[in-house]
Amino acid sequence: MPRTSPEVGGMGHSVKRKEDPRFIRGKGTYVDDLHFPGMLYLDIVRSPFAHAKIQKIEVSKALAIPGVLAVITGQDLAKYNLHWMPTLMSDTQMVLPLEKVMYQAQEVAAVLATDRYIAADGVEAVEVEYEPLPVVVDAKKALEPGAPVLRTDKQDKRDNRIWYWEWGDRTATDRAFREAEVTVQQEIYLPRIHVASIETCGCVALFDKVEGKLTVWMTTQAPHAIRTVFALVAGHVGLAEHKIRIISPDIGGGFGGKVPVYPGYVIAVAASVLTGKPVKWIEDRMENLQADSFARDYHITAELAARKDGTLTALRIKTIADHGYTDAAANPSKFPAGLFHICTGSYDFKAAHVEVDGVYTNKPPGGIAYRCSFRVTEAVHTIERMADLMAHQLGIDPAEFRLKNFIRPEQFPYKSALGWEYDSGNYAAALQKAMEKIGYAELRQEQAEKRGRGELMGIGISSFTEIVGAGPSKHFDILGLKMFDSSEIRIHPTGKVIARFGTKSQGQGHETTYAQIIAEELGIPVADIQVEEGDTDTAPYGLGTYASRSTPTAGAAGAMAARKIRGKAKKIAAYLLEANEEDLEWEPGRFFVRGTPAKAKTIQEIAFAAYTNHPPGMEAGLEAVSYYDPPNLTYPFGSYICVADIDKGTGEVKVRRFVAVDDCGNIINPMIVEGQIHGGLTMGLAPALYEEISYDEYGNIRGGSFVDYLLPTAVETPKWETDKTCTPSPHHPLGAKGVGESATVGAPAAIANAVVDALWHLGVRHVDIPITPAKVWKLLRESGVTE
Ligand code: CDP
Repeated sequence: MPRTSPEVGGMGHSVKRKEDPRFIRGKGTYVDDLHFPGMLYLDIVRSPFAHAKIQKIEVSKALAIPGVLAVITGQDLAKYNLHWMPTLMSDTQMVLPLEKVMYQAQEVAAVLATDRYIAADGVEAVEVEYEPLPVVVDAKKALEPGAPVLRTDKQDKRDNRIWYWEWGDRTATDRAFREAEVTVQQEIYLPRIHVASIETCGCVALFDKVEGKLTVWMTTQAPHAIRTVFALVAGHVGLAEHKIRIISPDIGGGFGGKVPVYPGYVIAVAASVLTGKPVKWIEDRMENLQADSFARDYHITAELAARKDGTLTALRIKTIADHGYTDAAANPSKFPAGLFHICTGSYDFKAAHVEVDGVYTNKPPGGIAYRCSFRVTEAVHTIERMADLMAHQLGIDPAEFRLKNFIRPEQFPYKSALGWEYDSGNYAAALQKAMEKIGYAELRQEQAEKRGRGELMGIGISSFTEIVGAGPSKHFDILGLKMFDSSEIRIHPTGKVIARFGTKSQGQGHETTYAQIIAEELGIPVADIQVEEGDTDTAPYGLGTYASRSTPTAGAAGAMAARKIRGKAKKIAAYLLEANEEDLEWEPGRFFVRGTPAKAKTIQEIAFAAYTNHPPGMEAGLEAVSYYDPPNLTYPFGSYICVADIDKGTGEVKVRRFVAVDDCGNIINPMIVEGQIHGGLTMGLAPALYEEISYDEYGNIRGGSFVDYLLPTAVETPKWETDKTCTPSPHHPLGAKGVGESATVGAPAAIANAVVDALWHLGVRHVDIPITPAKVWKLLRESGVTE
């Protein structure tokens, strides 16, 4: 089916931006806005120690405070076997501890009170005695023989390795390295960072004792999966799945941090079930930053092999993945290191091999897919840094090096050395467009001149390939739940539409784009289409929104459901027009008899007839459901070029220009895609230059407040210059690929490469992100550079 050109407004033939009040909408109801009569509040006592035995929890002073109703401990939950819960990676996580704490800021007990401030006073009044234990924060040391074994709760666990995973052809890769003319090796660390969404996590749990039904309004990106997990974990206390309703209202940013279940949710549910009252739990900012939603923490050793002419031949990677004290990542079950094996990137490797060790440390659970399709950011950063390193090593311009090694357009669908089948791509087109837009040749000249004057300027490229849209369900599941997604469309007699989806927007504008998809397919104005997500009592089952999967899965389901409806509408139109179905033609909004355009029925007339005058023998109504299981992932890509200037006096890196050329296939809504890329780029700048959460040797968190966890603001953010190419996905019904995360995934390497490019002649080969002024200043001084 021909699509409207993405250049002139994508699929929005029926969207009139300015006039349409629904163009960007949001309902403006967040969990913390909910208030119920008699609502109770939870606040949580957290551990100051990273590893300690709990000797005693003294609650009498807290209970003496008027308004404090209860202090809930692990012992209380243990009565119902709810003190441990499974993680999404089938590991186990404490809800509240019985014996020991495993990280600083871990939940130790919860105070239930009539008022939020009284609950906080109650927390202050709970006295806990701890006996500190040896702390392990270094993932490499955690694997050493003799390291204290952390998960003593697991019988037979003798070390801190969670799993070992390898992928690819070790023999062929080792051979390629033996035969290589040039090799490079680099240690790369991607530190822990935090999604730092504007809204923290939280919920209101309401157990209706009369109905026996639990409703939880919660900030979750995956409401259906959470309902199933709750039913599986708490079925034994009477919470069956049909008696659980999860409502995910407006969400103030999720970025992967709102996929897992956190202990606060479980305690709030337990408190509501026990009291029959609504119970609210909302994290404060520091709790959020210190206890959940962590990403990255990958220690990578990467090697590239190439010929002297610059042809890449092999890639070998060993990684230690620090998961904190439990593996609570939301990865697809079959892939403990997520989609890290997309690390061959945009290049045509003949051999590759990857090994990953998952490791326990005394840190909060980590490994969530922060605006990233399950570790693709780690993969892209590695391959893009390594490509630059090899290019510099060989003395080949990094752009020329990439152009030489890119998978060529005619090679698609392309089977990578690590087993992925890339759907479509034209990497050279994106890079060449970016080079033209930024004036690459002139910039290289400027750089040479500046270098002659002792000034430090670098140009960094990142030509990334993303991998988004999990399923297909034969390869992808979370806790056994297959990763398809869904859409249910109902057309009312008057031609108005309600459409519900299994995903859940957190600000990505699904209400707008899904309505556009249906409008495009059925010719019904977007203003007549109501889109809903996030209520498990009404929406069809789906796996939720993360990993840029919504357009590839639920967006496709919307198109497929609409096409089913169009099929039925055609039969009704034929009946109304007393014509043969085969003689009918479709144009947006109506069927007409071929050769007699005036003989037509609009979709609205057909909808009315579906309830008032449908063909004999046909079921009434006009609705359809699609559970779309994609045949493959989609592989969006892009080329980013960053120009950075470095202040020799302070070591400060200034991003002077940044051009981002993205390709996400056919675009549904150009303005929303532009917004996704702008936000994503700033979220890529953040870890490149500012953000890091680290721990001292005692496990004390550094970066646990916004005083020292530096989020870039408008002041630090450069002007993003964006552009696009369009290479449709051949298998997606709309030719679209996901886009939400591309920029966050692609940007850090461009910035890091610019910095190394500026410093290469001084002997600098690599700088780990975040590239702080202190790190650069030290490198400059070590290289003998003075102000
Ligand atoms: O799963 P998530 O919504 O985060 O990611 P996505 O599928 O990449 O979509 C992000 C937003 O961009 C949604 O509103 C999409 O409908 C929109 N989009 C688009 O308009 N055209 C595309 N080719 C891809 C996404």
